[in-house]
Order: sequence, then C-alpha cells, then structure tokens
Amino acid sequence: RSVAFIGSECYPFVKTGGLGDVMYALPKELAKQNCDVKVILPRYACIPEKYQEKMVYRGSFDMNLCSDGRSFYVGIMEYVWDGVVYDFIDNQEFFTNGNPYTNLIDDIPKFCYFSKAALAALNYMDWEPDVIHCHDWQAALVPVYLDTMFKDTPIGGAKTVLTIHNLRFQGIYDKRMISYWTGLPDYVFNKDALTVKWLDANMLKGGLTYADAITTVSGTYAWEIQTPEYGEDLDAHLRYHSGKLRGIVNGIDYDIWNPATDPRLANNYDLGNVLTEKRKNKKALQEELGLEVDDGKFVIGLVSRLTNQKGLDLVNEILPQLIDGNTQVVILGTGDAQYEDSFRYYENAYKGQVCSNIMYDETRAHHIYAGADALLVPSRFEPCGLTQLIAMHYGDIPIVRETGGLKDTVEPYNEYTNWGNGFTFDRYESGLLLDAVNRAKTLYFTNRWCWDEMVQRNMDKDVSWESSARQYRDLYVDLTR
Ligand code: ADP
Ligand code: GLC
Repeated sequence: RSVAFIGSECYPFVKTGGLGDVMYALPKELAKQNCDVKVILPRYACIPEKYQEKMVYRGSFDMNLCSDGRSFYVGIMEYVWDGVVYDFIDNQEFFTNGNPYTNLIDDIPKFCYFSKAALAALNYMDWEPDVIHCHDWQAALVPVYLDTMFKDTPIGGAKTVLTIHNLRFQGIYDKRMISYWTGLPDYVFNKDALTVKWLDANMLKGGLTYADAITTVSGTYAWEIQTPEYGEDLDAHLRYHSGKLRGIVNGIDYDIWNPATDPRLANNYDLGNVLTEKRKNKKALQEELGLEVDDGKFVIGLVSRLTNQKGLDLVNEILPQLIDGNTQVVILGTGDAQYEDSFRYYENAYKGQVCSNIMYDETRAHHIYAGADALLVPSRFEPCGLTQLIAMHYGDIPIVRETGGLKDTVEPYNEYTNWGNGFTFDRYESGLLLDAVNRAKTLYFTNRWCWDEMVQRNMDKDVSWESSARQYRDLYVDLTR
C-alpha cells in the first residue's frame, strides 16, 4: 500500500513532543513492512542547516488558497532517508518562525495553507497514494479539502485516516477567518462538520467528520474521549462517529532508543549488564547535574512538556515530601511559567537533591532515562505517552497515573505475584501520587531483588513499533479493499 503522512512536526527535523517521534518512527516501520511512504511536512526555517542542505528542489507552483482567490507559492523540497521520502512544503511567508507553533492568529492560516498545499503537492508530483494519513488539528483539514476541492483531481479517490494525538488542541477560530483562508464551500460550515458555535469553526471537528477512519494513540484514550470528562467538548461528536474510531498504541523507535547502542550514553548496557552499568550512568548523571554523587540514592526523573496536561501540580504539591536524604529528583522540561518557576524554586531550596533543567535537550533526556531509577508520569490525561515506554526500555520503573496510554502500557506492580511494570494510581490526587512513589521507594530500598527483576522485565518488554505499525497497515488494507 502507498501512504502519505501529513503532519506538523517530525523528528529529527522539528519536534516539540511525541507527535514528532511518531511522524518519524511509524513511517519508517511501515516502509520496513513494505509500504510505500511519503511524509509531507512544513519546511520551517528552524529545521537545522544539516538537513536543509540535503534537501533537493523537486518543483514549485502557485496555489489559490483564500476565498478571494489569493494565490501562494508552494515549493517542494525532498529528502530521502531510510526508505522514507520526506517532502517539505516551502513557503517563506508561513514558515519563517523559529518555532513551528506561535499563536492561533498565525497558526490557523499557516495550517490551512499547509494542508491544502500538501494535497496540491501530491497532485503536482503525480503521486496517488492509496491512503492519506493526517495527524492532529494542523492537518485535519486534509480530509475536508479532499472531499470538496480535490474530489475530482487525481488523488481524489484516496482514503483518509485522521489520528488524534491530543484532543485538547483543535484549531478553533472565527468561522469567517477559517472560511476566508480555506475558501471551503459554505456547506462544510454546519454544526455536523466544521462549526461548533455560530461564530466559531473547528478544524479538527471537520477532519473527524470527513475522515474515512479516525484513530487515536491508545485504546483507553479512544474510550475516554467519548466521555464528557476527556472529550474536550467533542465527546458527543466522537460517540456519533465511534464506528470509525479505534485506538492503536504507540511504540518507540529502537534505533534511537536503545541503551545498548545509544551514542549519547556514558555506558551502554543491555539486559545482561543493566544492574551494574545503570549505576555508572546514574553517577555520570549526578556529576553532570551537580547532584550529590552516590549510586545508592533513589533517582526519580521527569521528562515532560511543562503544561497542565502533565500532572505537574501534583508533583509540586508533594515534592518537599519526596526529599528525605535518600532521594533525588531530576526534571527536564519547558512550558508554562508557573511550573518552570516552581521547579526552579525547588532546585534552589533543595540544592544537590533536586535539579531542574528548564530547557529542551535531547541529549540530556537520554542521560536521564539511562541514569534514573524511576520516571514520573502523573498526567491529568495522556493519549499515549512515550516517556514511560522509553523509561521501561532503559530499565527505569515508571510511576504513572492510570489514564489513556499510561494505563494500557504500565501494568501495576503486584507484590503478591511479584509481577508488573511500574507503580500506578487512579484518581488525580497528590496523596495518591505520593503513595505510589513511596511504594516504589519501599520496594527499591527493602526488596532490591524484586526491583531488579522488574527492571529486567521492563527492558525485555516489547514497546517497539512493529505490532502497532502492522495494525495501521491492516487498517489501510481494510479501507482500500
Ligand atoms: P507529549 O507528546 O504529550 O509531549 P510524549 O510522552 O508522547 O508526550 O512525548 C514526549 C517526547 O518529547 C518524548 O520523546 C520525550 O523524551 C520528549 N521530551 C519532552 N520534553 C523534553 C525536553 N525538555 N527535552 C528533550 N526531550 C523532551
Ligand atoms: C501527544 C500526546 C501523547 C502522545 C503523543 C504521540 O502529544 O500528548 O500522549 O504520546 O501525542 O502520539
């Protein structure tokens, strides 16, 4: 089958979170499984020079975008790597910023343009995929354009899949503005498609309506988003479309996330020597971060966007209670000022025991996964979550809230059967998080044998993309039968 992926970020060119990881790893795995894959991305100015210079000019044309017929340049820059063809849509008016996302006033026109340009580029390149797989609100207009303006073009027959990586972001803005920028016919702006309230249009909602299939990144999240608690005001709409909605859990890329070969680690390790080598990585991490160097300490990591989704107010509430002389906390993240400030405060208040790295740094993330004993993911909601998967693969014990993909991927430790992958809690309460961390600590300090077994069990667990990619492939086959 041939598939075009359309999305707003992709590692290693540009990544702000898990979407970037998925846009890289899933097409690569599909290519291995004999799919013909193209990934279409914006050519942001912030893509590092070393990739920009490898891109080859593939052609360009002018495209009508707005309802008044205003036309825009579309350039196509191509880069082929690991069996996957990456086509970057080039337009300096839209993609000049240092950050892929800025504010909705800029982002709405940018992604109206991008979604249409991606389809026009496929026609221009004369490439008619069986399936067009788009991701999140930034590419959600693709199924809408395809069913309207592109219906009678060469790619008009393609089936569409829309994957929800995070329902919180929907691309909602003044209907007149979205109507102007897209030039879409009036009939798509009705309450069963793009319109939410009479003044607002919702790009994701339009995509959900027109897509042939909807997926999200875990089975539990697929269920949760059909409830008012997690539905972000689209639960009724999703219940209505539940016949074409399913959950497929994410994996991680074993070439990038492999402690045995990871070039960023001080000491590589595998299942056989994790117990000795991980201690060395812990010491290297402590040295790097100016923490007290002692491999007997219990090191808890947190690698996260610092936003309301991630359960950080629970962490803030209990952080002082975690610090007992035997525990260290290492935070890596950027985001909302309130969390950046509170974590900086804790670093000062607990020098040598808490380290807050308020930055985005891939290398440091690898060091933390390799050096930490446990990783905290207490999210308020979590469509899938990749950090707990990476953590397990690096021999860390995840401590997670039982929601979305966290629930589907971390089996709670059962002390009677001595089985499970991590420590979990259900309700969104700081006391329950504290309790879960304390259970982890108790096992670590009083029953190391069971802890070490869990470390090895986690490293051995299959969290690769192989079986999930096969499920996507089966879905493509179903759709195009
Ligand atoms: P989300 O997509 O909601 O941010 P995921 O768990 O799916 O959450 O993916 C997060 C990805 O981003 C992981 O690869 C994680 O290692 C990475 N990441 C998050 N924050 C940082 C950071 N500050 N520095 C480096 N990598 C980060
Ligand atoms: C989103 C979600 C995260 C998921 C990622 C990749 O950013 O917040 O849970 O793992 O997308 O699908």
